[in-house]
Amino acid sequence: MVREILVYPDKRLKLISKEVESFDGELHALLDDMYDSMRAKNGVGLAAIQVGVDLRILIINIPLEVEEGGHDQPKENTLELINPIIVEADGVEVFQEGCLSVPGFYEDIERAKHVKVEYLDRNGKKQIIENDDFLAIAIQHEMDHLEGKVFIEKLSFTKRKKFEKEWKRKIKEGKI
Ligand code: CO
Repeated sequence: MVREILVYPDKRLKLISKEVESFDGELHALLDDMYDSMRAKNGVGLAAIQVGVDLRILIINIPLEVEEGGHDQPKENTLELINPIIVEADGVEVFQEGCLSVPGFYEDIERAKHVKVEYLDRNGKKQIIENDDFLAIAIQHEMDHLEGKVFIEKLSFTKRKKFEKEWKRKIKEGKI
């Protein structure tokens, strides 16, 4: 089921998400809804708080190249990270990021190039993932949401000011 995605500057996006303790049917339904909601907006990642649930959950599904030249995101390729912790981070990478909670805005953001992350899967089983590519960037972006942070907070003062001005105008014009 597709759920509504919160849009900046919704105050709920500032909440610090809580640890997941129950790996039950309710959690699985939430994860499935997060996938549907992400797909509906053509996103590659989503944190639970973006659908208004303040739990430490994020999903990522990097589109595959498919034969017709389009992309696809089969559900079985969805990475589901619960209570994730970055245990290693090094290197520097700049990547153009976007966010379903800041639709239509993209900007270069600097993050660690390589991360190693410990997390629990939907059954509560401990897992480890390591990456030094786009997935590493996506994980760091989504993990910021768990701390109540949106990627625009990483912009320089000047870029942030420009963004806020344009965003207010877009909201006023009903474009958001
Ligand atoms: Co985001």
